[in-house]
Amino acid sequence: MRGRESHAVRDLHHKYGPVVRVNPEMVSFTGPTAWKEIYGYPGVKKFKKFGYRQLRPGVPDLLTANGADHARQRAALNRAFSDKALREQEHHFQEHIDLFLARLDEKCGQGQPLNVAQWIEFLAFDIIGTLAFSSSFNCLEDRGYHPWVLLLLNFFKSTHYVLAAKMCGIFSPLVLALGPIRDLRKGEEHLRRSYAKVQERIKMAEDDRRNDFWTYISRQNEQKEGSMSVEEMEVNAALLIPAGSDTIATAVTGCLYLLLKHPKTLERLRKELDAEFRSQTDITMSRLAGLPYIRAVVDEALRMYPPISGELRRAVPLEGAVVCGHFIPGNTIISVYALAAGDNASNFAQPKRFTPERWLTTDERPDWTRNDHLEASQPFSLGPRNCIGMGLAYAETKLILARLVFRYHLELLDDEFNIENQKVYLMWQKPPLSVRLSRRET
Ligand code: HEM
Repeated sequence: MRGRESHAVRDLHHKYGPVVRVNPEMVSFTGPTAWKEIYGYPGVKKFKKFGYRQLRPGVPDLLTANGADHARQRAALNRAFSDKALREQEHHFQEHIDLFLARLDEKCGQGQPLNVAQWIEFLAFDIIGTLAFSSSFNCLEDRGYHPWVLLLLNFFKSTHYVLAAKMCGIFSPLVLALGPIRDLRKGEEHLRRSYAKVQERIKMAEDDRRNDFWTYISRQNEQKEGSMSVEEMEVNAALLIPAGSDTIATAVTGCLYLLLKHPKTLERLRKELDAEFRSQTDITMSRLAGLPYIRAVVDEALRMYPPISGELRRAVPLEGAVVCGHFIPGNTIISVYALAAGDNASNFAQPKRFTPERWLTTDERPDWTRNDHLEASQPFSLGPRNCIGMGLAYAETKLILARLVFRYHLELLDDEFNIENQKVYLMWQKPPLSVRLSRRET
C-alpha cells in the first residue's frame, strides 16, 4: 500500500532467485522465458487475466474483453494503430510538439529551474486527447493541468488500491478503507466525460485531416457492420486516455533523466541526431525509424524504468500448470513484474548501469553484455494481449525525445527524480525533473 511493491518484488528476486511467492496467492517469475510462457503462446490460452475491472459492467473494453469479443475489438482497433494510421496522424504529434517547444523556448535563458516532467505530461495528455476525441486537453495552450487530467492522475491511485484490495480476501474492506476511496468517484467522472466526448465526436462532420482513432473505426464499421458498438467506443475511449498518456510521459521523462545522468550517452545520441538532421522540421517518425541508437536508448530506459512496472495477473487453471520448470497449483495467481525482470543480474549484466549499447546488434555491443537475456525486458508485454499502442509509443517517445535534445542543452539541477525513491500506484508517481534550459545552436 506504500507504493513500493515493484521495488520490493525486485528485491525479493535478488535474494531468492527467479521464482518467488510474493504473497499467499501470488507467484512472480523473472526467468527469461517467463514472459513467453505466461503471456505468449500457448500460455495465453491457459492463463486467464485475473482481477481486471470492466470500466462499465456488462460492456467489455479491450483490456477486459475475452475470446471472440477481444479478437473483434482488437481487429477493429488495429486499424487505428497501423503504420498507415500513424503516418496520417503524424501531423498531430508534430503540431503539439511545436507548441511544447514554443512553451519551453519561453523558459530558456531565464536561469530558473524548470520541472520538465510536468511539461512532458502536458504534451502527452494533449496528444492523446487529440487522438482519442479530436479534442486536445489544451494543457500546453493554458500552461496548466486540465481538471480532467488531474482527476485521472488521482484515479490511478484509487485503482491501485482496488486491485491491491482484491488480493486481500476478507481484509479487502480494510484495505479499501485505508485507501483514497473518494478518488474512486473521480473514476466515474472520467467515464462520464469520456462518453460525452465520444458522443460529441460521433456528431462531428467528416474532415480529412482529423485521423483520430475513430476515423479508422468508423470506416471499418461502415464496411463490416457492428465491428464496434457505440457503447464499446465509449469504454475504449475511457481506456485509451489513461493507457496512452501517462505511460508515454513516463517513458520520455525516464529516457531524459537517464540521459542527463549519463552525459556521454547523451552526447552519443546527439551525434546520431546531428548527423541525420539539419533542423527541427527534418525530424520525422520515418527518419527516426532508421536510427539505431535512439531506439537503444529507449529500450534501455524502458528496461530500467518500465512505465507499467507492476504485476500483470494471470490465474493458473484448476488442474495446475508447469511454469518455468515449476509445478504451480491451480488458482494460484502468477505474474512477471517488468521492473523485477529488467533490473535483474541473472538477465542483464550490471543491471543498474544505463547502457543502451547492450541493445545494438553491431560490434559496438560490449562484450560484457553479450550474455544478456534481452527477451527478459518486455515493457509492452507480449502475445495477443500485449500493448496495442506499442508502435505508436516507440514513435511518439523517440519523436519527443529527439526534438527535445536536438533543440536544447539541459542541465540537471538535482536528483529528486531518483527512480529508486519513487512510488508506484499503478503508474510511477513522478517527482519534479528540475533542469535549466538553453538553446543549442542548430
Ligand atoms: C511506453 C508506453 C506504454 C507502455 C510501456 C505500455 C504497456 C502496456 C502493457 C504492459 C500492456 C499489457 C497490460 C496487461 O496485460 O494487463 C498494455 C496494454 C494495452 N495498452 Fe499499452 N503501453 C504503452 C503505451 C500505450 C499507448 C500509447 C496506448 C494507446 C494509445 C496503449 C494502449 C493499450 C491498450 C488498449 C492495451 C490493452 C491491449 C489488449 O488487452 O489487447 N498503450 N500496455
